[in-house]
Amino acid sequence: MIAVVLVGGEGTRLRPLTLDEPKPVLPIGGVPFASLLLDRLAAAGVSRVILSCGYLPERLAAGIGEPPPGVEVEVVVEDEPLGTAGAIAFAARGRVDGPYLALNGDVLGDADLGALVAEHRDAGARATILLTPVDDPTRYGVVVTDPDGTVERFVEKPPTADGLGPAPWWVNAGAYVLEPDVLADVPADRMTSIEREIFPDLVGHGLRALRSAGYWRDIGTLESFLAANADAVRGRVHTRLGGADGAVLVDPAAAVDAAARLVGPVRVCAGARVEAGAEVGPDAVVGPDAVVAAGARVHGTVLLAGAAVGPDAEVADSAVGCDATVGAGAALRGCALGTGAEAAAGERLADARRPG
Ligand code: GTP
Repeated sequence: MIAVVLVGGEGTRLRPLTLDEPKPVLPIGGVPFASLLLDRLAAAGVSRVILSCGYLPERLAAGIGEPPPGVEVEVVVEDEPLGTAGAIAFAARGRVDGPYLALNGDVLGDADLGALVAEHRDAGARATILLTPVDDPTRYGVVVTDPDGTVERFVEKPPTADGLGPAPWWVNAGAYVLEPDVLADVPADRMTSIEREIFPDLVGHGLRALRSAGYWRDIGTLESFLAANADAVRGRVHTRLGGADGAVLVDPAAAVDAAARLVGPVRVCAGARVEAGAEVGPDAVVGPDAVVAAGARVHGTVLLAGAAVGPDAEVADSAVGCDATVGAGAALRGCALGTGAEAAAGERLADARRPG
């Protein structure tokens, strides 16, 4: 089985973290997100992954690490963004000759993609959409199906849930199985959206959907990126981290002082240092080679590789980019610092975005 993964977006909502790293290589629990996605595709029996890139393709290719055994990865680069349908069509053209998986490359999930493929084949569908449940339909495109899984209609961001039946409501999870002809006529020279321009026309022509209650989170905002990290360490989503509620996951190559306090769920990666009197967690990830100095407090926060939090600083609900520094005694809440950015000693910052 072949999978096309969309990883070409600029990730504007996650700036400044995405100014020099594309969203799919940002870490979840210290592991590049794309590596977790490759694990999942390998588990579903995928042997070839085509990454559909546009933004920072070299960084993406360098950042995904070794693919799992038995999985071959090809990077395909668009000259300009083609939208979700255009990008899948561009990547698939000449490379697929049977049904294939297509995925948004910014969704952390653990739904069984093998089951999606099996359902598609068994039903003889032309396209099958994975659905995930939500409690508030007003921010999503709701997919209404009959009891058998045939898609009846789409309701884009309804103002209320009136007429949509009882909760939960089921929305597009950003994973599909497609027959090769579905996107054959997509223009090669303009943006085309699979959600808005392709699927609505397929209603009544072999478009089906499969409901899955597995974990699902789009990692595209600071809040959801931090929550995805916490959920991975907590084990709410099944990943190679093997997290659990209250887990304290310390890499053997990390140095945690005996007088430091780790409050699970927390993950400390290889080469990281946590000094005496520091308190890290809950819901914190100390990335590779990152440092939390004496007396500092870090919670609800992801420190990327090489980030440093100075003595007695407090960092809450924030992301601190690669090699960024938080000075002694500084206090950050709800902030994102880009690569190499600096918060000065004693500085107080709330809900700030600071590029490097
Ligand atoms: P924002 O700018 O913050 O909205 O993020 P984004 O650029 O990632 O856009 P969005 O979250 O809507 O994209 C969903 C998925 O599709 C992500 O995995 C993107 O990388 C990918 N994507 C969006 N547009 C394109 C495109 O034109 N080409 C390719 N190859 N991928 C795309």
